[in-house]
Amino acid sequence: MNSTSFYVTTPIYYVNDKPHIGHAYTTLLADVLARYHRNLGQETFFLTGLDEHGQKVQQAAEKCGVEPMKHCDKMAPRFIELWDKLHISYDDFIRTTEKRHKKVVQGILQNVYDSGDIYENEYEGLYSVSEERFITEKEAESGEFRDIKELKEKNYFFRMGKYQEALINHIKTNPKFIQPEHRKNEVLGFLKQPLNDLCISRPKSRLNWGIELPFDSDYVTYVWFDALINYITAPGFMSDDNSFQKWWPASYHLIGKDILTTHAVYWPTMLMSANIELPKSIFAHGWWLMAESKISKSVGNVVDPISLIDDYGVDPVRYYLMREMVLGQDANFTIESFIKRYNSDLANDFGNLLSRVSTLMKKNYDGKIPESGELTEAELIIKSKGESLGKLVKDMIEEMRINDAIEETMQYIRSVNKYMEESAPWKLVKEDKEAAGRVLYTAGEALRISAVLLSPVMPNRTEILLEALNAKGGNLDWGGLKSGSELKDHKPLFPRVK
Ligand code: MSP
Repeated sequence: MNSTSFYVTTPIYYVNDKPHIGHAYTTLLADVLARYHRNLGQETFFLTGLDEHGQKVQQAAEKCGVEPMKHCDKMAPRFIELWDKLHISYDDFIRTTEKRHKKVVQGILQNVYDSGDIYENEYEGLYSVSEERFITEKEAESGEFRDIKELKEKNYFFRMGKYQEALINHIKTNPKFIQPEHRKNEVLGFLKQPLNDLCISRPKSRLNWGIELPFDSDYVTYVWFDALINYITAPGFMSDDNSFQKWWPASYHLIGKDILTTHAVYWPTMLMSANIELPKSIFAHGWWLMAESKISKSVGNVVDPISLIDDYGVDPVRYYLMREMVLGQDANFTIESFIKRYNSDLANDFGNLLSRVSTLMKKNYDGKIPESGELTEAELIIKSKGESLGKLVKDMIEEMRINDAIEETMQYIRSVNKYMEESAPWKLVKEDKEAAGRVLYTAGEALRISAVLLSPVMPNRTEILLEALNAKGGNLDWGGLKSGSELKDHKPLFPRVK
């Protein structure tokens, strides 16, 4: 990957599930990062998609009495519609049932087989139908696995254990490979035990909805061995060398903490065996909880993002999810905290500043941006903070402190509101129109810079704001607001909600 390109992925979601706020979160996080990097002028590739093979899909299709492919085609639009509604700016959407993907999975399987890293063995052990994998006695006792049965069958195994030392070394020498730090330690802890080989086949007699092994047509591939490969299929592995060179290794695989082992252990060892560079970073975020439980279909406490968007608008939902979660920790979703954030941050602080500034400019300056004039101490403080804010936000985003980056910008907006209170341009304009113009110019320009910095999080409403100030574009230098240019009419940015 060249240093100016940025490649970010989300997990590919099980096509069977109805997308909820948890899926929306990871996708949104990827979207915010992608938009942020695009704004910096970096070439960006943002991949998301669907995981369509495996037992659960096969069973669900059987239940509906349709072919699995038909079932997938029926379910897939639910995700695509949600991503459209959430204004997700993905560059590619991959489905594991696509031809381009099957070709790569079979290519990798054949390479790994030819190099001797896949072998055949008879295996007898406990199998969790719900997790679609063999489990150890200890795992069975943990109570975390459902539908457990004894199975004895011939299967193919990937020599994952062979790469244990190499993986430990890689993790230790690349401190950013697994983030945050506590997840890295968790994986290193897991790797203290001997790493078993991985069963990567399922006999067709038991499951046929998968990608056939190129070296044994009686078997299909284990769904994770298939799914993980999506991250290299999309940028062009085995199909477009230039594109693959350009994007790989990925900058970030964003995942929830539930799928850390598959990403931080299975995936890198698969890549090592296939002689492909490892991704730069795997970042595992925490869970959205409701009343202490993970939001999930099986718990039955899902929040439907669509109805939230319909009720409050897409940007407030995006804002809340990004502002409320400290990346790496769990966060609590409550409608009360959503409404509180909306009213205090968006309606009172952000929206209110625009309406004050634009109303006063319209009333006293013929609806035009006034002259900025000679700045006094108070304006110089705001200007200097505005000039350093971009760098501060950039550093925080690079450290994956999205919530802090947002809060830093909101604090700036609050300080500008305070400056407005103190300078009272609505009074000042009666005595000194030039001075009041200076105050309004300064507040408007600070607002413009804040909107540019918040645009990856709230692309829509910040665009309305920038249009209202007649200052579209992503310039972060002080002075982007042009004195004399006409303000545009706009609806209230964030009407208060009850
Ligand atoms: N298909 C696999 C991933 C294969 S990637 C090669 C899978 N799919 S999933 O549909 O179950 O999605 C899991 C992901 O959804 C989590 O890793 C996380 O990104 C997101 N979330 C689902 N529920 C969540 C919460 N309650 N909170 C936050 N995110 C969670 O696993």
